[in-house]
Amino acid sequence: MRVFSGIRASGDKTLGNYSGGFRQYVSTQEEAARASGEAFFCVVDLHSITTPFEPDALRESTLSVAAWLFATGLDPERSTVFAQSHVTAHAEAAWLLSAVTSFGELRRMTQFKEKSEGQDFVSAGLFTYPVLMAGDILLYQADTVPIGDDQRQHLELARNVAERFNQRFGETFTVPRGVYPVAGARVKNLQEPDRLMSTTRGAPAGDVRLVDAPDDIRRKFKTAVTDSGREVVHDLKSKAGISNLIEILSVTTGDSIKQIEARYEGQGYGQFKLDLGEAVVQMLAPFQARYRELRADDVELRRMLARGAEKAAAAAAPTLARVYERMGFVR
Ligand code: TYM
Repeated sequence: MRVFSGIRASGDKTLGNYSGGFRQYVSTQEEAARASGEAFFCVVDLHSITTPFEPDALRESTLSVAAWLFATGLDPERSTVFAQSHVTAHAEAAWLLSAVTSFGELRRMTQFKEKSEGQDFVSAGLFTYPVLMAGDILLYQADTVPIGDDQRQHLELARNVAERFNQRFGETFTVPRGVYPVAGARVKNLQEPDRLMSTTRGAPAGDVRLVDAPDDIRRKFKTAVTDSGREVVHDLKSKAGISNLIEILSVTTGDSIKQIEARYEGQGYGQFKLDLGEAVVQMLAPFQARYRELRADDVELRRMLARGAEKAAAAAAPTLARVYERMGFVR
């Protein structure tokens, strides 16, 4: 079993990233260890330059996201944690795989449409980014890719690229499978439950950031938009706000949606929102403490990333060499 996932170095990471990203990384790390497999987790800094960015902020967010990966439970002994730009195979794979990716399929990517809408400058990289992502996964022969639902279309593209390459040049890549959370695959903004929680596209009052102070978190949940009625019941169509909150509680405590509904039967929204805010504060507290410790020594953090890059480069090299060879490059 080989696991691969990536997370962009940008913005402050949210509870959405925790749900679709960080917590799934840790559970798949454990799964890979049980199956004597390998797990790779990458801060995809090359992806961060596809939307407007500042060099200083890129440096800072690369280290910050790396620290969150370790703070939420990735173990550098068991998982390979690294920065994408440290392993040059990623940039090479993106170029090579662009030969088997069509303009038409890239044009259908909804994330490109959303992120380019209304922008003065839309980089070519924003358009071709899914090819880089496909390369990230395929270079490691990953069979398991833990992600949130917003990455589903990109994962499908990676599968198509793998299959097309295999057909054209012979069996080379494992066709990867996406792993999505049962609850919390699409954590929504607390103020606007029809949009995803995201620090790049969300609305600040309703985004819960992993760095938020406890009182800010409590306030955000207390003032979260709910729907008319007072039943704590999961129904995405008629109760988007409360359904989102139930899913967040499920992510936080591990209780199922059914268990949560039963616990709050007849109690109304007030107590539920207070309990939820407190549960999130308690869950994040040890992660935040560990994050602060890790950020106190960026030299050590860089060292940890350098060790990860060495292991990742060695793992990616045989596949990259095979790709060049199969495509007909003189080596
Ligand atoms: P990124 O950095 O936007 O997000 C990292 C992970 O967090 C998940 N996520 C969410 N899950 C649930 N609810 C939300 N509101 C929410 N917001 C974000 C994302 O689904 C993702 O799993 N293109 C990717 C990074 C990437 C990658 C890869 C992922 C690059 N190469 C290879 C997997 C494999 C991205 O921008 O994720």
